[in-house]
Amino acid sequence: MTVQRTLSIVKPDAVAKNVIGKIYTRFEDAGLKIVAAQMRQLSQAEAEGFYEVHKDRPFFKDLVSFMISGPVMIQVLEGEDAILKNRELMGATDPKKAAPGTIRHDFAESIDANAVHGSDAPETAAREIAYFFPALAIHSR
Ligand code: TYD
Repeated sequence: MTVQRTLSIVKPDAVAKNVIGKIYTRFEDAGLKIVAAQMRQLSQAEAEGFYEVHKDRPFFKDLVSFMISGPVMIQVLEGEDAILKNRELMGATDPKKAAPGTIRHDFAESIDANAVHGSDAPETAAREIAYFFPALAIHSR
């Protein structure tokens, strides 16, 4: 077991539904600490850069449009096995396939408006955290 950090985003659909607090409670109840956070309206360039790995996928344009459709809440989560733990809390990408009790099952409507983002591996977590937060903005505890 190792203490890790992961990048989490509450996407525009969940912010619009006013469930940031409910989602934060899931993180905290699972032992994950919020060690940095910012509410932001992403620019198109920021969203495109963040999802660059998907730039050749058919859903890329719609994904970027969705991510800039309203403010997002971006946070760094820290804890034992934070990357996998957060992925388990989130549930499957498609909310219809997500297990009951997961964030996406409980709060998301569709695969393209699926409530949350979470880094999927240590390398992507490092890149994604650095994309939004300077080291001094992360308050490890
Ligand atoms: P992906 O990295 O595959 O999923 P996850 O967010 O679970 O790590 O895809 C990134 C986002 O792209 C996903 O959260 C929603 C969007 N997306 C679609 O809109 N349609 C799709 O068919 C897929 C696979 C993803």
